[in-house]
Amino acid sequence: MAEGRTVTVVGAGNVGSNTARRIAERDYADEVVLIDIVEGLPAGLALDIAQSAPVEGFDARVRGTNDYADTAESDVVVITAGLPRQPGMSRMDLLDKNSEIVTSVTEQIAAHSPYAVIIVVSNPLDEMTYLASVVSGFPKERVLGMAGVLDSARLRYFIADKLEVHPAQVEAMTLGSHGDQMVALPRQATVNGKPLHEMLEEDALEELFARTRDGGAEIVGLLKKGSAFYAPSAAAAKMVNAVLEDSQEVLPACAWTTGQYGISDVYLGVPVALGSGGVAGIVELDLNDSERTSLQEAAEAIRAKCKGLEERRT
Ligand code: NAI
Ligand code: 2OP
Repeated sequence: MAEGRTVTVVGAGNVGSNTARRIAERDYADEVVLIDIVEGLPAGLALDIAQSAPVEGFDARVRGTNDYADTAESDVVVITAGLPRQPGMSRMDLLDKNSEIVTSVTEQIAAHSPYAVIIVVSNPLDEMTYLASVVSGFPKERVLGMAGVLDSARLRYFIADKLEVHPAQVEAMTLGSHGDQMVALPRQATVNGKPLHEMLEEDALEELFARTRDGGAEIVGLLKKGSAFYAPSAAAAKMVNAVLEDSQEVLPACAWTTGQYGISDVYLGVPVALGSGGVAGIVELDLNDSERTSLQEAAEAIRAKCKGLEERRT
């Protein structure tokens, strides 16, 4: 466990409360602060999580608050505040409301924790990450978004389920956007070290990629109210740990590009080495022409959406 490290989780809803719980249960941080606009909600949930400590055997302090002064000097801030997707609602439908929320939250974070690494979870993910970056004014490497760890986990799970192997034996990564332009990389995927395409026909692979791309919507459709939170909170907690431990672990995340894959000046899902300063570097995988083109198309789609977002803000 890192010493004296504080993580703030903004938004005490399904994703936020479970992210706080996972970070506390694993003693990733010394202190976890949960904050929300709903009075009493974060305090109640934090107390509930804290009271599980003797049973779960963790030592992290968990506090809930409605006051940003209590989040001061956090090392990592996870933004989960916002509306979740409802059935029939696209991520883009959330844009206006969540832009307002993410803007106000980011202003408070930047004022109280000027040296934090910000991990954005709120949707639409790519645009909200860009927005948090602009509003905070933080160096780009200290603002990133969580989607790739979740999408890759979904893909790995679907592959493991199909092939009836342990999920940990499957390695696979998705890049691009959190949404329609997710880029699956079949050539990089392996099962027990063996290339995935040797084990599954093209059609079966395509089916798994499509299910992953629509993975969030599938769960929204089943829940009827709200969206996924167990896998998203696991993914966010993993990223928090990589930052606090300065692990340099390579994980897919929404990060600011500076020429990698021929792409610049846009937030995009790419493999990043994560450390105490946020993104320590973007890793360039050996992509073929078609994969590179798909990634570039995803980048241009996100760029256009962020431009649209800028126009709505002015
Ligand atoms: P939720 O509705 O359970 O929780 C959202 C919380 O945000 C509520 O407690 C609400 O009171 C709070 N909130 C609203 N405005 C706030 C403000 N100004 N300051 C502080 N708190 C505020 O929603 P859930 O399921 O936790 O999802 C949260 C967000 O994460 C949604 O936008 C959802 O679409 C997104 N999400 C993103 C994923 C990803 O892969 N990036 C995966 C899953 C969810
Ligand atoms: C998900 O992928 C809704 O973005 C959220 O589950």
